[in-house]
Amino acid sequence: MADNAPIGVFDSGVGGLSVLREIRARLPGESLLYLADSGHVPYGEKSPEFIRARCRAIATFLLEQGAKALVLACNTATAAAVAELRERYPNVPLVGMEPAVKPAAQATRSGVVGVLATTGTLKSAKFAALLDRFASDVCVITQPCPGLVECVEAGELDTEATRSLLQGFVEPLIEQGCDTLILGCTHYPFLRPLLTKLLPATVTLVDTGAAVARHLETVLAARDQLGDGAMTTRFWSSGDPRRLAGVLPILWGENGGVEACPV
Ligand code: DGL
Repeated sequence: MADNAPIGVFDSGVGGLSVLREIRARLPGESLLYLADSGHVPYGEKSPEFIRARCRAIATFLLEQGAKALVLACNTATAAAVAELRERYPNVPLVGMEPAVKPAAQATRSGVVGVLATTGTLKSAKFAALLDRFASDVCVITQPCPGLVECVEAGELDTEATRSLLQGFVEPLIEQGCDTLILGCTHYPFLRPLLTKLLPATVTLVDTGAAVARHLETVLAARDQLGDGAMTTRFWSSGDPRRLAGVLPILWGENGGVEACPV
């Protein structure tokens, strides 16, 4: 029996739309709920306690809207809050995300892997454990990227300001021989076209959006909870709904109505 209840997906802002796109492509029979916590973006510089409180409120809201599963489409929120949410909702399928350290460590030929991520992700115990587990044989250079999330939130994917900020972050990594670059924040895949222009063609970019969609499919299939309906998508923002509506055509590829998030 198909389960046509929606899947709840959320992020600190618009970054999770890069994951939502992968879910739409992989699971076209699912209805989706997307909440952008743009009233509190960026999470990257906030305390884990603050992020956990936001995640509790958002998860509760999405479950009240009938979500059958939750996707934390945010590396920073996953690092801070996924363990607590799993404890709080032991019966809800919950998919989080983390920087693609394992595939990057396998792919590098130079032995130098760069990680672009938020300060919160890079400082987390979860990230330290990930490095211990999968990257003991390679050199990993981490690069926090303050300011970059704000560029994507504004839909400024290829302006002069975004370009020079990004160049300042990637240049030192290239100078140190990095040939594999992890996009460890869900906002950054939107900067792939710009990164491709800034980086030598020998550098491979890796992110986990498609892997998250595949994992979600596996989790839902194991519980016999895959949907087979016509896909609908509902959007909320805790910031200005008009702002999210304004960037949806760029980041989601089509227009959509956006409601004000009540939490
Ligand atoms: N998109 C988020 C992530 O994947 C967080 C960005 C932020 O709010 O700082 O880490």
